[in-house]
Amino acid sequence: MTATPPPVGSRGNRREGLLTEPAPRAANRPVQRVVEVLAARPVGAYVELTLAAPEVAERAEPGQFVAFAVGGPTSAHLLRRSIAIAGAGGGAVSVVVAPHGPGSTWLAALRPGDTVDVVGPLGRPFPAAPAGATAVVVGGGYGAAALVGLAAQLRDRGHPVAAVTGAASADRLCSVDQLSAVAGAVAVTTDDGSAGRRGRVTDALADLLGDAGVVYACGPMPMLRAVADAATAAGVPSYVAVEESMACGIGVCMTCVLPVVGEDGRTRFSRSCTEGPVFGGDRVRFADVGALPWDVVGADAMGVVAP
Ligand SMILES: Cc1cc2nc3c(=O)[nH]c(=O)nc-3n(C[C@H](O)[C@H](O)[C@H](O)COP(=O)(O)OP(=O)(O)OC[C@H]3O[C@@H](n4cnc5c(N)ncnc54)[C@H](O)[C@@H]3O)c2cc1C
Ligand code: FES
Repeated sequence: MTATPPPVGSRGNRREGLLTEPAPRAANRPVQRVVEVLAARPVGAYVELTLAAPEVAERAEPGQFVAFAVGGPTSAHLLRRSIAIAGAGGGAVSVVVAPHGPGSTWLAALRPGDTVDVVGPLGRPFPAAPAGATAVVVGGGYGAAALVGLAAQLRDRGHPVAAVTGAASADRLCSVDQLSAVAGAVAVTTDDGSAGRRGRVTDALADLLGDAGVVYACGPMPMLRAVADAATAAGVPSYVAVEESMACGIGVCMTCVLPVVGEDGRTRFSRSCTEGPVFGGDRVRFADVGALPWDVVGADAMGVVAP
């Protein structure tokens, strides 16, 4: 049986000095490889794939993702599908796939011995926590898988770690046991009350924000917005790994842009594939995602005027 690789970035499969500011580094240059599926394991409503991808595994940092070609060599699906890296180590990479459209359904149907074309790792990782800060990781659905490695990394660096994970229903929860192993207790919420506390992750987060020095979140965009808003209101910095629709995944097509406020206070369209997917939670203008705000840099050149 093939073991699931350790969480990406956890002690034992990475060198020291793992958490970095989110800046491109030579060590993170992606590779494109056709890799073998070592294992495919159902996890509730999802499928966890383990891939023999040593060059991706050795470069991966928590928060990064891979992009799969889907449908096989003669596929009409030209666009790669982005999936967060859940585990990396021992020459293998794991991902958790939620089947819904043609690409994700094809991925979830892969079986041991199949091969798949993958590019990665892509994007910028989660940044370091402030010295001594208690970190709270908040995962929604399969987004929780991408936080296990981060939680392990934070723990290894001496940060107290608390975890919250939530989903619509029990079968859509993910990585609860793995997060428990790292963070001790995990606060679990479900919308329908089928597991843990009935409600949203922000209900459980509210109990933890008093002691938190930083919040990290991965999950659906509405959840990220709610988590970022709650953290900002409590005066706690947050980092969110956004899931914006992507096409090229490598910074060329501008499909994945969203309005992000820079250090100078001005809003620019940032590419979530290369400048993200991790952004400061208080920097993303969630209310304007998908829109063209009048005050975004360059909007005047497109004829957009202030209201
Ligand atoms: C950084 C990142 C990490 C992700 N991590 C995961 C993960 O760990 N597990 C997982 O199951 N899914 C993840 N997703 C979402 C996944 O990429 C989409 O569900 C998938 O591309 C949909 O493809 P499809 O052919 O099944 O569906 P379709 O809806 O037919 O997709 C068509 C196109 O729309 C885009 N698209 C559709 N839905 C999404 C979405 N939710 N997010 C981004 N692009 C979308 C894709 O680029 C795709 O090319 C992630 C997305 C991003 C951007
Ligand atoms: S997906 Fe093409 S620039 Fe980001």
